[in-house]
Amino acid sequence: MDVFDWIKKNLNPRVCDSAEFIYDEMDSQSERCLPIIYRPFDTTSRGDWRERGFTFDYLYSTGSGRLLDFGPGDGWPSLNVAPFAGEVVGVDASKRRVEACEENAERLGIENAAFVHVPHSTRLPFPDGHFDGAMAASSVEQTPDPLFALEEIYRVIRPGGRLRVWYEALARYRDGREREVWVRSVGGETAQLILTDRHIDEERADQFNLVFDVSAQHLNKTITGGTGEITLDDVTPEALEEVAPRITDVRACPLRHPSGRTLAAWLADVGFREVLPTESGADAAGSLFDQLAPQDRPSDLEGVDALVKPVVEKAIETPAAIEGDPMITAMK
Ligand SMILES: C[S@@+](CC[C@H](N)C(=O)[O-])C[C@H]1O[C@@H](n2cnc3c(N)ncnc32)[C@H](O)[C@@H]1O
Repeated sequence: MDVFDWIKKNLNPRVCDSAEFIYDEMDSQSERCLPIIYRPFDTTSRGDWRERGFTFDYLYSTGSGRLLDFGPGDGWPSLNVAPFAGEVVGVDASKRRVEACEENAERLGIENAAFVHVPHSTRLPFPDGHFDGAMAASSVEQTPDPLFALEEIYRVIRPGGRLRVWYEALARYRDGREREVWVRSVGGETAQLILTDRHIDEERADQFNLVFDVSAQHLNKTITGGTGEITLDDVTPEALEEVAPRITDVRACPLRHPSGRTLAAWLADVGFREVLPTESGADAAGSLFDQLAPQDRPSDLEGVDALVKPVVEKAIETPAAIEGDPMITAMK
C-alpha cells in the first residue's frame, strides 16, 4: 500500500493548522541562515545579493510608509525593510514566530517594527485602510484559508496601497520532488518524520508530521537500516509499522498552494483593482552579481545597495509571464 494512504488509514492523523503543525515548535524558522538578521551580510555571496534584492523589492513595491508583513516567520522581510520604512507591523499566526521576531528586532536594535500574534482565520486587529502597503512572503499558502487572509490584507490596506506577494507555487517541484520526507530533530529524545505529498495540478499539498519519542539519529537509523540520509523509498508501511510504538502524535496539515494564475484571480476576486505579475528584485540582484567580476563587486553593504537598488526598481516595473509563477503586486 502507498505510504500516505497507510498513514491516513492506520494512524488517524489529527488535522491542524501550520502553527501547530510545525511553526510553534521552531526556534528559528529559517535555521538561523538569514543574512543581516542572524549573521553579517556576505558581499561575496550570490544568495545574499538576492536577499538584498528581495528587501528593496518589497520596499519599493509597497512604498515606505506604514507597512504590514503577513507571516514574517523570523522577521523576514520586515526586519530588513524596517530601516527604510516609517513603520512595519508583522502579524503571524504562530505565537512562537512572533516571539522570534521580537527577539530578533531587539537584538538588531530595530525600534520601528512590532509583531502581533493573530491566529489563523481571525480578523486582523487593525481598522480598514490602516496600512500604506503590505508584504507577504511564503505565507498566504501556509494558512488554511488563504482567501480569507487576502480579504483581510485587502481590508487593512488604504485605497491606492499595494500588496507585494511571493508564494510557493508547486510547479517548481515537478523535478521529482513531488513527494518528500525529512527527519527533524526537536531536541533530545524527540524527533519528527515529516512527509509531504504535493498534488501539483490540484495546487494543494498534504503534509504529515509523525512525532516520535526517540532521537532523530535513532529514528533515521531504524527506518533506513543505518544507510544514511532518509529517502521516501525507506518509508514503507512495513518500516512505519516497526517504529509505530514510539509515535506520540500524528498531525496532518493540508494546504492550498495557488499557482500564479490562481493567486492573480484570487487577488482580483477580493477586490484589488490592478494585479501585476512582475520580474523580481531578487532575480535582478542575482543577475547583477553574475555580471560582475569578483574584483568589481563592492566589498561593503552600502556599495552593494547602490548597485542593487536601480536594478530592483526596474525589475518590479517589468511585467512577467504569469505561467512562470512570478512575484505579484496588487493595488487596491
Ligand atoms: C514559510 S514561513 C515564511 C516566513 C517568512 N515570511 C520568510 O519568508 O522567511 C510562513 C509563515 O507564515 C505564517 N502564517 C501562516 N499563516 C498565517 C496567517 N493566517 N496569518 C499570519 N501568519 C501566518 C507562519 O506562521 C510562518 O511564520
